Amino acid sequence: MSGTPLLSIAHASVRRGGKYILDDVSFDLYEGQNTAIIGPNGAGKSTLVNVMCREVHPLARVEYSYSLFGSTRWPVARLRLVLGHVSQAETMLIDTTYTVYEIVLSALYSAIGLDFHITPTDEDRRKALEAIAKVGLTHLMDKPVNTLSSGEKAKTLIARSAVNDPPVMLLDEASNALDFPSRAEFRRTVSSYAREGKTIVMVTHELAEIIEEVSRVVVMKGGRIVADGPKEEILDEDLLSEVYGQRVYIDRRGGLYTAWC
Ligand SMILES: Nc1ncnc2c1ncn2[C@@H]1O[C@H](COP(=O)(O)OP(=O)(O)O)[C@@H](O)[C@H]1O
Ligand SMILES: [Mg+2]
Repeated sequence: MSGTPLLSIAHASVRRGGKYILDDVSFDLYEGQNTAIIGPNGAGKSTLVNVMCREVHPLARVEYSYSLFGSTRWPVARLRLVLGHVSQAETMLIDTTYTVYEIVLSALYSAIGLDFHITPTDEDRRKALEAIAKVGLTHLMDKPVNTLSSGEKAKTLIARSAVNDPPVMLLDEASNALDFPSRAEFRRTVSSYAREGKTIVMVTHELAEIIEEVSRVVVMKGGRIVADGPKEEILDEDLLSEVYGQRVYIDRRGGLYTAWC
């Protein structure tokens, strides 16, 4: 890729519990370069995504650098406008008696739910309704989030992360709790964001989650990036067998993949 990456991380290391959970990782992301990050449990995938959205700060070494849209300084509120982040932690945070509408609308104020000091504008209300319609939840928008199914919660979360219309979406195991028909629906929603021109970074341990629009796959293991390249090259039986330390078989159907051991 040429030009300036929209996100550039160089030499990020994170230590927790006396060991490196991210070990000198560099990662550039270009506009439109939809990327899947895969790897065994505990590989450091979520840590890397949390470094991308500055929820985790790497060791302050001279060689470490971070740049997003060419800028190194990002106040959290501004960061949320350009990076939509869906994580397991968020799933728990939205599990409240606030309605779908309130949970989505309140993301515009970096809040969870609406309280008395938030007075939404008509424009904000319109944005929330649009984001909810996009994920197909209009009929449920007045229901408390804690009464929804896990599939509906996942959609609420994706609407919440998309309501600011961020150019980049970071989806960390966002479809984990879903049954397979809901996963297919979820993939279609993510694909539609990609086709709108958003750059998608999706973390998953299931190859079947990887949407067709993903062109690049990054493999992590032991806090490091161990492979990074075009999807067709990386989703290779020999390569993944080596990473997972056991024989991996891969099937491809249409633009989608499945793997098993
Ligand atoms: N705050 C923490 N303290 C100690 N260990 C942590 C902490 N956060 C993460 N880890 C460990 O770091 C490793 C990488 O975590 P994570 O990035 O969540 O992996 P992944 O998302 O690939 O499953 C795991 O072994 C995890 O247990
Ligand atoms: Mg994780």
